[in-house]
Amino acid sequence: MNYRKYIAEKLKIDGVNENDVALPPNTEMGDYALPCFKLAKILRKSPVAIAEELKNSFECDGVISGVSAVNGYLNFKVNRAGLASGVLEEVFSKGDGYGASDTGAGKTICIDYSSVNIAKPFHIGHLSTTVIGGSLYKIYKFLGYEVVGINHLGDYGTQFGKLISAYKRWGNREQVQKGGIHAINELYVRFNEQADEKMEAEAREYFRLIENGDKEANELFNWFKELTLEYVNKIYEKLNVRFDSYAGERFYTDKMQPVVDELSAKGLLIESEGAKIVDLEKYGMPPCLILRSDGASLYATRDLAAAEYRKKTYNFHKCLYVVAYQQNLHFKQVFKVLELMGREWAKDMVHVAYGMVSLEDGAMSTRKGKVVWLEDVINRCEEKAYSVIHEKNPGLANKAEIAKTVGLGAVVFGALYNSKIKDVTFSYDKVLSFEGETSVYVQYTCARANSVLEKSGVKYTLPRGYEPNTQEFEVLKSLAVFPETVLDAGEKYEPSIIARYAVDLAQKYNKFYIDCKILAAEGEAKNFRLALTSATLQTLKNALKLLGIGVPDKM
Ligand code: ARG
Repeated sequence: MNYRKYIAEKLKIDGVNENDVALPPNTEMGDYALPCFKLAKILRKSPVAIAEELKNSFECDGVISGVSAVNGYLNFKVNRAGLASGVLEEVFSKGDGYGASDTGAGKTICIDYSSVNIAKPFHIGHLSTTVIGGSLYKIYKFLGYEVVGINHLGDYGTQFGKLISAYKRWGNREQVQKGGIHAINELYVRFNEQADEKMEAEAREYFRLIENGDKEANELFNWFKELTLEYVNKIYEKLNVRFDSYAGERFYTDKMQPVVDELSAKGLLIESEGAKIVDLEKYGMPPCLILRSDGASLYATRDLAAAEYRKKTYNFHKCLYVVAYQQNLHFKQVFKVLELMGREWAKDMVHVAYGMVSLEDGAMSTRKGKVVWLEDVINRCEEKAYSVIHEKNPGLANKAEIAKTVGLGAVVFGALYNSKIKDVTFSYDKVLSFEGETSVYVQYTCARANSVLEKSGVKYTLPRGYEPNTQEFEVLKSLAVFPETVLDAGEKYEPSIIARYAVDLAQKYNKFYIDCKILAAEGEAKNFRLALTSATLQTLKNALKLLGIGVPDKM
């Protein structure tokens, strides 16, 4: 239940909504508070007088059990016992589905994410798009949307001509079959190091051959594509992300002409130094390049065709692009061109931009093949997780399995914890810390809760009429806001809201765990505390699952 909303609605004051209802700094004053300072300006009365008047007219009920006016604040006390059984009952009855809703029923959201480039390294720079997109995918499903995950493959361009040229010169079948994407990447890097005018011309010729449907060139291209996908799919599986479509840039080869024709018919396409562009000067942007002077299409041209195709195919409610902020201008241009073409749905296109991830030691360099492969980061994190776990709990069974869940979670959580637009520095020690804002901390809290439940040996019942103390109440309040937290994360395209929520709930639970006896408590208190523990475990699991992170039973 959303108490803030409940209070705001009950107050019925023009201009006051749930966002005006705050949490007071200390719970002795109340569980929620309405500061009356903003109202003072409008009503031309002192905040103290307003709070006093509101107090006198407020009628308590089964949800709000008391009000008081203190220094210009109207403080509300929640009926704690009522809240306790209400929240716990909801968590237990919904279980894995606690926090889910049907807000999105009947609506489709397309998410363009990860969008790898064929034959190029899948590096740490792809971590954010993959895990943010992957998490949004799960969040929208949880909110009842139909979701279409799209991997808009970078499979178009002259680099494939270069690759074929390099393969013909230095490569052979066994070596590439065996080395996979790494071997392909080496060939590509070598080409760039050694290419002269003659080789460049040859590469252009191979690219033309791919375009013209030449059998051998296309076989090679498709083989490189398969090897790349085989490689990245293994990582996707590990990361718990999925795609419903792999329609990449090449898929739009025959779908761009209608866009070009329409731009031209609408008088939007103008010639500039032999190229065809859409002038966006009026909107404070450089022109959007549609066709080069040799007639070749561009990245933007394919994105325009892709947007049209997605609207036609999926009739999306929203189409998201989880792409680094370096491409801000590109998406602004594409969305503007769609708007100029008269697509009213251009407003439903959203560039979900995110910042850079770099490694602590500054090892993120894309020069000359010196990249940090995402796979290596994951492996290293799993290895480190193993030693961290071994140190903490040497006798633990299934250590290797657990280290995988913990290590992977650390990589994902490390990329999701900060608001997505921030540049982040990835540090193995930081993401694997048991004390800190980490998935390890949250997972460890789950293991702790699990162990309490296991040791108790009794089955709790749904508490009725139990009056929670302050620590218990803090946990309950946090449990109660999980559904609105998920909604908020979806609305803001911000999985970090859920990551932060999980840490906050874990902290509150741990405070309760330290301050209140659970197993040594008796009667109603023990029953309540076990129920609270179980509900916390369920909610933390649900939260982590939305981020793509699993929870080991023991740690
Ligand atoms: N492959 C592109 C890159 O690595 C990202 C594609 C994003 N999606 C899109 N529809 N443009 O930069």
